[in-house]
Amino acid sequence: MNPYLKEYEWANIAAMLRNNKAEPKQESKDLRGKLVVITGATSGIGYETAHLYASRGADVLLINRNKEKSELLKQELEQTYQMQCTYFIADFSHLKEIHAAAEMLAQLPTPIEVLIHNAGVYNTKLRFTDDDIEEVFQVNYLASFIITYRLMEKLKGQEKARIIYVNSEGHRFALAGLKLDDLRWQKQHYTGLKSYGSAKTAQLLSLFSFAKVFEGSAVTINAMHPGDVKTNMGENNGKLYRFFKHHMINPKSRSPKLSAQALYYLGVSDEVRETTGEFFNFTTLETPAPHALDQGMAERLWERSLKMGFGAAARI
Ligand SMILES: NC(=O)c1ccc[n+]([C@@H]2O[C@H](COP(=O)([O-])OP(=O)(O)OC[C@H]3O[C@@H](n4cnc5c(N)ncnc54)[C@H](OP(=O)(O)O)[C@@H]3O)[C@@H](O)[C@H]2O)c1
Repeated sequence: MNPYLKEYEWANIAAMLRNNKAEPKQESKDLRGKLVVITGATSGIGYETAHLYASRGADVLLINRNKEKSELLKQELEQTYQMQCTYFIADFSHLKEIHAAAEMLAQLPTPIEVLIHNAGVYNTKLRFTDDDIEEVFQVNYLASFIITYRLMEKLKGQEKARIIYVNSEGHRFALAGLKLDDLRWQKQHYTGLKSYGSAKTAQLLSLFSFAKVFEGSAVTINAMHPGDVKTNMGENNGKLYRFFKHHMINPKSRSPKLSAQALYYLGVSDEVRETTGEFFNFTTLETPAPHALDQGMAERLWERSLKMGFGAAARI
């Protein structure tokens, strides 16, 4: 019996369905001279978000895995908006590269105004990284945990900072919750939806732990669902999945410009200046699924993430 089922409230499901169709709130505030960090900005939501922040004058530091795409994006942004774009190359399927990115950020002399953890992957087949961790868990969750953890002191020392996880309503697909005893998927049947849901659930559970860590500081941390939008997510999978995506998902998907609009609002609006530890659907507050609110699981995940992310193999 799934222990979380009895905790479901239909009103929360109805709210999610309603929020999925809504338009995100907009914010037009200028961000000239402020530094914004975005992971996975070479495509989709990250790309549109980098454009929007740059168009409002922010300097952007992009953490991407592809050098050629990063260089093109840097030129595009700097020429279009007369701001400064820098990038750092890190493939999150390598723990050492995640740590290198975290170290670089921790050493920055400038404050980070907004940190957007956006990079993500969707796999229909079980894959392990060179660190022997299931890839979706490492890229979508563990990378954001390691970077946030290593930035705690820097961010707490700043006048203010906002951290945003680009999470997903897909966390709901991990219906039975996060299986900490089977992160390698040897006992459960692996599916794309379940592994994606598990990684996004882990990120939400860590959100609540980090919110406690940042209590009393000027750092806020929130997660958001960026809408169901047309991007390259899942294009790394086989022909069958891509056919399904192109014919069944893409035609109903919205523009990632809406996701960028929501991420700009959450990053700069005064209305959410003090909001922390919350989950938004676009820009509307929402209650996540019960399994993503399990405090005991959040505590066990914290310990496990420290072991997985900071064990001997992860050290630089
Ligand atoms: N699209 C949606 O409807 C939707 C809905 C809910 C949540 N999301 C979330 O939104 C975020 C952005 O996804 P998207 O839809 O914009 O997909 P996307 O177009 O595929 O963009 C994903 C970004 O992540 C980067 N990335 C992938 N694997 C990486 C790795 N190993 N190391 C570093 N960077 C990596 C990609 O780099 P490359 O350009 O090199 O591939 C790309 O920049 C993800 O966290 C996703 O889960 C999306």
